[in-house]
Amino acid sequence: QVSQAGIARGALPGFVMTLMRIIVLGASAGGGFPQWNCNCRNCAGYRAGTVRALARTQSSIAVSTNGLDWLLINASPDILTQIRATPALQPGRATRDTGIAAVLLMDAQVDHVTGLMMLREGGRLRVHCTASVWEDLTERLPLTRVLAHYCGTDWQPITLDTEAGLQRPFEVAGIHHLRITPFPLSSKAPPYSPRRLEPDPGDNIGILLEDTHTGRKTFYAPGLGVIEPHIATAMAGADCVLVDGTFWTEDEMVRSGLSSKLAHEMGHLPLSGDAGMLAFLNTLDARRKIVIHINNSNPILDDDSAERAELTRYGVEVAYDGMEIEL
Ligand code: MLT
Ligand code: MN
Ligand code: ZN
Repeated sequence: QVSQAGIARGALPGFVMTLMRIIVLGASAGGGFPQWNCNCRNCAGYRAGTVRALARTQSSIAVSTNGLDWLLINASPDILTQIRATPALQPGRATRDTGIAAVLLMDAQVDHVTGLMMLREGGRLRVHCTASVWEDLTERLPLTRVLAHYCGTDWQPITLDTEAGLQRPFEVAGIHHLRITPFPLSSKAPPYSPRRLEPDPGDNIGILLEDTHTGRKTFYAPGLGVIEPHIATAMAGADCVLVDGTFWTEDEMVRSGLSSKLAHEMGHLPLSGDAGMLAFLNTLDARRKIVIHINNSNPILDDDSAERAELTRYGVEVAYDGMEIEL
């Protein structure tokens, strides 16, 4: 018997070593694009057909190392639409079945967790998240208590080393040769959380996803407010970065009269500016640099905008629903 792990890629004719595959299920920030109640330039332009842009659902990705078993990262309120659009997530091996082996939550934001309710018809849900997120989902937005009356949830704690900054990688049962290293990062707990103004290192995480067969790594952080040194290091070591592209400017929602919130108040580093995400991405050698979690106010959603052209000049891609990343 030949073990797949022992074979170098291409060593046997007809033998295909599976690569780490990421499917972007939803590339938008909370509200999606176009947002139901919004008439900003993007949303109104999309509806009128005067802005060339793709509609996008709320933030979620799925990762697999064999194309069969998937880790769902964030459970967006749009999850049922996302699953319908993604045949790979329904392998059809039994009368009731799913390709989703487990769920990992990056934080407890409404747009990242409420999709759990839509998975209640299935088997017990294994949910990987930090203690802060679990507490919010048990005490403040008590989805886990509600789900106890349906499928039930099994909490798989993600622990962070906040002292030494040396994080402990973990694996997800059912997803082979995928090593996940979590990093505490500076973003924001949800508005309903008691820690919105008193952050805890477990409120938001970034993760490094490593396929231990190929050694290839993806850094994922849809909410990233500050690029602290440990985050810069993790990003610099990744072959692919998939990071926060929520806003183009710090005050874009304020200036367009959409909201009184600034980007940093919501825990997001804007793309533009000398200290913005784009300038940082430009210092990296990663093969793929992709921004995700795009807010509907962001001009990069317009395929013909100057801001989109600037990203393209920097070699930075804009995630869209259904985008597949293989590495
Ligand atoms: C965020 O991650 O900042 C959210 O998209 C905000 C929200 O819940 O709408
Ligand atoms: Mn969000
Ligand atoms: Zn809008």
